[in-house]
Amino acid sequence: MLSLRPIQASAVVLALGLSTLALVAAAAEMPELEFNGNAEAGKAIAADRGKGNCLACHLIIGAESPGAIGPALIAMQTRYPSKEALARQIWDATVKAPEAAMPPFGKHEILSNQELVDVVEYVWSL
Ligand code: HEC
Repeated sequence: MLSLRPIQASAVVLALGLSTLALVAAAAEMPELEFNGNAEAGKAIAADRGKGNCLACHLIIGAESPGAIGPALIAMQTRYPSKEALARQIWDATVKAPEAAMPPFGKHEILSNQELVDVVEYVWSL
């Protein structure tokens, strides 16, 4: 058993806490991305119940069993000035709407950067 005096133990706990914070901070910001994704791959991710699962909450025209918790994903190019702006919404919806029920896909690393770029390519085409 590792025996630490209370002061040492709290130093260890503090160090662990700080390193966890650093990790979270590193993932919180969306990195520079190249928007050259694959729309077909993005479509599969959007429908995948274990990945994007966008259809659980969003209507996408032509897709099977869509949900109605979030707004319909339609005419995206009229509402977002760029793929990057759209990506930021998917990266972390809580920036614009702190109470948003939508999981922060990028920030919480639910999607990899490549998967995010693929989903953006697909949603941008809707
Ligand atoms: C658990 C439900 C849920 C899931 C899963 C979900 N969303 Fe959302 N989404 C929402 C809600 C709720 C909003 C509205 C947020 C707000 O209040 O601004 C939203 C908003 C959005 C918007 C902004 C829509 C607009 O009209 O500007 C986009 C784009 C979006 N989601 C894309 C996605 C994509 C892509 C996925 C899958 C990778 C996804 N969402 C998965 C619930 C969800």
